[in-house]
Parts: sequence; structure tokens; C-alpha cells
Amino acid sequence: MSKNKNNHAIWNTRIKKKTSGIFLKVGSSIVVDKKLYREDIRGSIAHVEMLFRQKIISFQIKNKIIYGLKKIEKEISKNKFEFDTKYEDIHMNIEKRLFKIIGDEAGYMHTARSRNDQVITDFKIWIKSATKEINSNLIKIIKTTLKIAEKNIETVMPGLTHLKNAQPVSLGHYLMAYVEMFLRDKKRFTNNMESLNENPLGVSALTGTSFNIDRNYTTKKLGFKRPTNNSIDTVSDRDFVLDYLYCCSVCSMHISRIAEELIIWCSDGFGLIKLSDKVVTGSSIMPQKKNPDLMEYLRGKTGSVYGNLFSMLTILKGLPLSYFKDLQDDKEIVFKTHETLINNIKILDEILNNMTPNKKKMLDLANTGFITATDLADYLVKNHAMSFRNAYQKTAAIVNYAEKNKKKLHDLNLEELKKIEPKLTQNVLKVFDLKYSINSKKSYGGTSFDNIKKMILKYKKQL
Ligand code: ARG
Repeated sequence: MSKNKNNHAIWNTRIKKKTSGIFLKVGSSIVVDKKLYREDIRGSIAHVEMLFRQKIISFQIKNKIIYGLKKIEKEISKNKFEFDTKYEDIHMNIEKRLFKIIGDEAGYMHTARSRNDQVITDFKIWIKSATKEINSNLIKIIKTTLKIAEKNIETVMPGLTHLKNAQPVSLGHYLMAYVEMFLRDKKRFTNNMESLNENPLGVSALTGTSFNIDRNYTTKKLGFKRPTNNSIDTVSDRDFVLDYLYCCSVCSMHISRIAEELIIWCSDGFGLIKLSDKVVTGSSIMPQKKNPDLMEYLRGKTGSVYGNLFSMLTILKGLPLSYFKDLQDDKEIVFKTHETLINNIKILDEILNNMTPNKKKMLDLANTGFITATDLADYLVKNHAMSFRNAYQKTAAIVNYAEKNKKKLHDLNLEELKKIEPKLTQNVLKVFDLKYSINSKKSYGGTSFDNIKKMILKYKKQL
């Protein structure tokens, strides 16, 4: 290829007219996919090494190409590379530059390959490392949550259902619920590695290739586990993108739930936690305000993350096999989602490190709403040979009595209790103690202090 021709699109022999301006603008993905330059160069190097081993290209050509690619990698990493929208994407920008650096021999690089398999190879490599980045951030947030849980094993708070007082729990136990969620997230992301580890390179445009390539070699070189099995499926498949976006959505949902929880807890009505000034913002008109904006940000961003999953699902819906331009949007969707999720995990970590539980408020709130009623019912079953349903009715009658007399359960004396259930003795009064209640929940996974201690220890060892 002579020098002056190098400014043209690769297909200029076939397509004579200049692409219309608007299509050049929207059809080009270079501003987005330049992020894949490292993966692209790595993939190309593995590809030409394989071509040489299979005697498809010569030793000299292979070396020249690798030399050029390495030079390009340096140029890009040092911001000395001029990306051109005319060449559409990262793959053609690199190929064009390779021609400039090493000349016509650059033309051997794209033997037995298409951008269709090239782009998914790059993308899978990228999502694999993105997954690792998310998982290490998840480990961080799990450790933070464990640390705060450990400090709050004996912090008593009301456990709520329907946002109404239900039964007393330990704040430590509550936080450990989020540890479970984040551990599941980590596992969910890890499970995706199975399909991310299938190497697309070598399926070419959609049919495979007539060249005697070795897909197992590139598989090994690029850190995949096995080559994909069907060339048409491979270029059409974006399930791995959906899996990744789904995992991000679920993880975001967990973050949004804890964010919402904390918004409620720090509201003036609840006042269960205090946030440090580092993580609140003020109002332009109301001088007294300290607002939990960051938590609201987390809750809001979860909407964008779900939206990204739905964009991708919709792009794929009804799309025939195999490659179509529709698929090009996958990268922008994933890159945006990744950035959002990483930020959200980091923000949540910052918030958790900057909140203080208001233990007195938690205890006071736990002491309202007859929160130990279930403990009383359980006591009647265990000590006075009643069925649970009978005990439930007796307890309801006691709650009614207390409510009518404007008393809490623990304000009732034995005489009052005996009016409703004559068999009761002094021994019953202990069940109205919140810590007694919490510690009686010794069943596996329950909120007793011992259980929480064991769980925290188990996870600390595991991480
Ligand atoms: N930039 C394209 C994308 O991301 C690469 C694949 C292009 N293939 C094609 N046949 N136009 O989807």
C-alpha cells in the first residue's frame, strides 16, 4: 500500500464515495472503544504469534508487526496517539497506524481474523479484569461492614417489618445481613468467569476460517480456558455482557437498599445514626440542614444501572444472527455501568466509615411498640404447656391491656399479667428484657450475640 492511500478507509477500493458526515460521526466508536487498546494489542500479538507458529506468516513479518504494535501501545499510553474517527474504531485505528510504522507488511495482521471476533476478544478480556476490580472492591466493603458489625454486636435496635417494630435485634446482626448480600454479589460475578473464559478469537467474521489456525494456542496465550464452540453463536453472543450487567444491577440494588435504610435511619423522625460532616451536604436556603445526598445519589444511580441492563436486553431482542452494528453499543453501556458501580461501592464504604450509631435512640425505639410480645408468647408455650396459637392470643390480650393502660410490656407487674394468665410467675418478667430476647435467638443464623460473634469470626478468617 502506498503512503498516500493510507489516509483512506480500509474499504475504499470497494466503496467509492466519502461516507456522509453524519454517519462518520455516529458510526464511529473510537471515543468509547479506545479504552480497549491494551486488550486489542494483546489480542493482536497473540494472533500473529499463532499465525507464525502455524506457518501462515513469516518470522520477520511477525516480529515487525509485534514491534509496531508495542510502539503503538506506548504511543497511546503516553497520549501521543492521534485517534481518527474516520477509522471507526480502535481496531482500525491501530491497524492504520501499524501501516504507517512498518509499511505494507502490516497487511498480514488481519489474516484469519475479523473485527467481529477481535472485538469480543478484547471485550471479554476487559470484562474479566473489570470483574476482578469489582470483586476486590466488594471485599473491601465487606471488611468495612464486618468491622462495624463487630463493634456493634451488643448494640440493640428494633428489627422492623413493614417499618413497624417487630422484634429486637443486634445492629451487628443487621449489618451482617449486608455482608451476606455482598458475598453473594461477589459469587455472582465470579460465576460469570465461566463464560468469560471462552475464547472467541479465531471464529473470524462468522464461519471460522480456512487457514490452519490454532485456537488453543491463543486461548492459552490470552488467559482463556477454552475456545468457543460455534462460530456463528460466538460473534452474535452478548450473553456475557448481560450477565455482567445483571450482576451490576443486583449489586447496585443491594447498595440502594442499604442507602435507603441509612436515609431512614438518619432522618429526624428516626435519628438512629449520625453522619459525619464529610458525607452530608447543606441547603442553599435552610441554614440548619445536613442532608444525606450521597445516599440519595446511590439510590438514584441504581436506576441508571438497571436502565443499562434494559438497554442491552432490548438491543439483543429479536436481533438475527450474527454481527450487526446494533451490537457496537455494548461497550459504552458496560463502561458506564462499571464506572458507576465502582464509584457506588467506594461511596458506600466512605459512608459506612463516617456514620455513628445513636445507641440510645436505637434502644429507646426498640423499647416502644410491645417489641417483646413474641418472646412472651414463646415463654407461655415453653413454660405453661400451651399451643403457640393459644399463647399468641393470651399475649395479644396482654398487649391490649398494656396499650389501654398506656404502659409498655416491661412496665407491667406480675399482678397485672396474672389477671390475664393466672399461671404466670415472677420468672416471666425476664422476657421483656431486650438483650434477653436477642440472646434467646440462638437458632442457626439467628441474632444472638454468640451467633454473630461466630459469623464475624468465620468471615474474617475466610477473607
Ligand atoms: N466497532 C465494532 C463493534 O464494536 C467492531 C466490529 C465491527 N464489525 C463490523 N462488521 N462492522 O461492534
